[in-house]
Amino acid sequence: MDPDQAAAALRWWLEAGVEFAVDETPRNHFADASVPGPLSSRPDQLQKAQAKPPTAAPARRGVDGEQPFAGIAARELAASATDLATLRSYLETFEECGLKRTATQLVFADGAPGSRVMFVGEAPGGDEDRIGRPFVGRAGQLLDRMLKSIGLDRSQVYIANVVPWRPPGNRTPTLQETQACLPFIKRQIELASPEILVCLGASAAQTLLGVREGITRARGTWFAYRCDDGRTLRALAMLHPAYLLRQPGQKRQAWADLRALVRELRI
Ligand code: URA
Repeated sequence: MDPDQAAAALRWWLEAGVEFAVDETPRNHFADASVPGPLSSRPDQLQKAQAKPPTAAPARRGVDGEQPFAGIAARELAASATDLATLRSYLETFEECGLKRTATQLVFADGAPGSRVMFVGEAPGGDEDRIGRPFVGRAGQLLDRMLKSIGLDRSQVYIANVVPWRPPGNRTPTLQETQACLPFIKRQIELASPEILVCLGASAAQTLLGVREGITRARGTWFAYRCDDGRTLRALAMLHPAYLLRQPGQKRQAWADLRALVRELRI
């Protein structure tokens, strides 16, 4: 394999969500007879497991006495948090989203709660999952540069994601996963209490603003985001920085949206 081919192969793995090697040579652990357990001793199940694409394990339902919040709906649980630290601690014990089992850790927020602007993305990627803060990978670095272009940095904004655990291979969170986490991001927005909510990408815009058309059409549009506590926030849909990395020609649209944000903030 020449260096160009090797680089192309590496890029392919990265795009598929494989970001670090755990061994120097590939090894099929399913076929490893020395590993005890039902998979190595049941060839029929082994075959099924190998054929299945990697997805998060299904969420375990709570039973009384097993989980602190068993039986309490996520909405009630999230609504009962009166500050962000409590909301975060509730998420740490929340078992209704299967992504929690495949993620390394909860990625709750970055920046300053109480900032005038809150950015909400889709879900953490590999770098965020390792570091525990949203938007710290390549897309996050572009977000930092976008903020800088309007005289802001992350200490002057608040940043979170609709889903706070990394989906395996950076896939889009399923509707079920998004719905399980929705009460928490909604409460997080209320408690962070920004003047302006910026939804980065189609996922956040669809989930929080009910956007039905594509993000390339919806971007740059102002919406009214209604909090459950009755307040209404100004909300802007923008292109996701990860999309801008893939489609740099769209950066001019993002720039137009940043200018609109600046006008709204009068900074
Ligand atoms: N993309 C997101 O939507 N959120 C992150 O935190 C990182 C990448």
